[in-house]
Amino acid sequence: MKAEPAMARGRGAADPLIEVGDLTKVYGEGATAVHALRGVSLSIGPGEFVAIMGPSGSGKSTFMHLLGCLDRPSSGSYRLAGVEVSRLSRDQLADIRSRQIGFVFQSFNLLPRTAALENVELPMLYAGVDRGERMRRARALLENVGLGDRVDHRPSELSGGQQQRVAIARALANGAPLLMADEPTGNLDSASSIEIMTLFRRLNRERGITVVVVTHDMNVAAWSGRVVIFKDGLVTDDRPVAEVVPASVMAGVAAAPAARGDRA
Ligand SMILES: Nc1ncnc2c1ncn2[C@@H]1O[C@H](COP(=O)(O)OP(=O)(O)OP(=O)(O)O)[C@@H](O)[C@H]1O
Ligand SMILES: [Mg+2]
Repeated sequence: MKAEPAMARGRGAADPLIEVGDLTKVYGEGATAVHALRGVSLSIGPGEFVAIMGPSGSGKSTFMHLLGCLDRPSSGSYRLAGVEVSRLSRDQLADIRSRQIGFVFQSFNLLPRTAALENVELPMLYAGVDRGERMRRARALLENVGLGDRVDHRPSELSGGQQQRVAIARALANGAPLLMADEPTGNLDSASSIEIMTLFRRLNRERGITVVVVTHDMNVAAWSGRVVIFKDGLVTDDRPVAEVVPASVMAGVAAAPAARGDRA
């Protein structure tokens, strides 16, 4: 079964992109079982920018793995663009992932001995895009994240912030409408973090890409529009960013040079 395109079913812009109901995830069995998610229900609309926060071990990464179709829930439902994906096979999930979801990790996960351009081409290679088109699109994506003059550099020849921008360009390579990032600034200094968050915000506002970011850092969450808090495998709070992030931190976002991520 191939998941049908959302539009074929007459969905509108107001329909949620992500809709999870009573989602649970149990790792292991019996006495050693870990109940990482214990019944999470949540909707995220197209074009939203959501930050997920909460203590270590509260289930944030587990939740992101399920949303990103990298893993399947133990129970509950997950509708992505109107399609129930929680019971799909691993191959079907891989298919959904390659078309709908771009994933960005804390540790960048770039191929080390490979130039930025080829790293960005990789998802298109898997998707069967021909070489000329791959190169053209990869170059445009790298230019879009401010790395047009670094296409031939390997990861070791780039700063952390630049490596993460290559990873973001790669995540966008197949035109996914949904970008998910787990601690994307966890290995970056504060200036690079601001660059990355400026870039996420621009992709969100200018291209309508839905962004979901896990972070421990209020300075990072401040760039989102909505903050969802996890605790012990449950959502304990879900509110607009200004009600969660202190005004002094929000002021830092307002003062950040917005041009930086566009240009750098
Ligand atoms: N593959 C796994 N096998 C067994 N238990 C796991 C596995 N992955 C996560 N867990 C457990 O599930 C719970 C939730 O883990 P998760 O990684 O989702 O937390 P987190 O909120 O992302 O934490 P952190 O902020 O430290 O990254 C933890 O108790 C963790 O030990
Ligand atoms: Mg985690």
